[in-house]
Amino acid sequence: MAVITFLGHACFLLEEEGKETIIFDPFLKENPHTTLTAEQIKADYILVSHGHFDHIGEAYEIAEANKATIISTAEISFDAQGKGLNAHPMNIGGKFNFPFGWIKVTLAFHGSGIAGGHACGFVVNYYGKNIYFAGDTGLFSDMKLIGDTNLDIALLPIGDNFTMGIDDAVLAASFLNTPTVIPYHYNTWPIIEADPEEFKKKVETKTHSKCVIVPAGESYTF
Ligand code: NI
Ligand code: MN
Repeated sequence: MAVITFLGHACFLLEEEGKETIIFDPFLKENPHTTLTAEQIKADYILVSHGHFDHIGEAYEIAEANKATIISTAEISFDAQGKGLNAHPMNIGGKFNFPFGWIKVTLAFHGSGIAGGHACGFVVNYYGKNIYFAGDTGLFSDMKLIGDTNLDIALLPIGDNFTMGIDDAVLAASFLNTPTVIPYHYNTWPIIEADPEEFKKKVETKTHSKCVIVPAGESYTF
């Protein structure tokens, strides 16, 4: 069984007993939802969706302390390599096999937060389970194509203003044809206030998806 732990904002840990641990967008220091520090994180892979501070976060510190591999766009990966860190550069549309399965990099309509390049999302095949992490993005109808991947879980931003809001995230869940959706990127600051219960109600009324609200610090096993 895979375990996904939400650390608040856009930070998730994906792990399975005795297997590699993957952390997504490790924003900890200024993340009001967690008291965990970079020193406390044990990870083998660090996925970074884009260079904004609330996503790249403490990726470099965690990479250095764990000799972990950053997986991100070419621009962020080359920057990390330039600082002596392990990084695997990828780009949108690309797929690569890793010891745990594979990663495919998806489109995300958002700023890259670094000179050149794009923001991205990831589909992660982790020991047979398919997890879509949308990154920071607006809604796009090509999510229907990502839905062809046979997803187990989609992680979607709902906080509006910088990303999709609740109503667009409900449409995203229907495009993705995902059995389970977990919301993120909300209630970190007043500008992205959103009610996950409202999202859950709308998703479960209007789509076939089940919504699991994972409070920060808690986990979901699947
Ligand atoms: Ni961003
Ligand atoms: Mn963000």
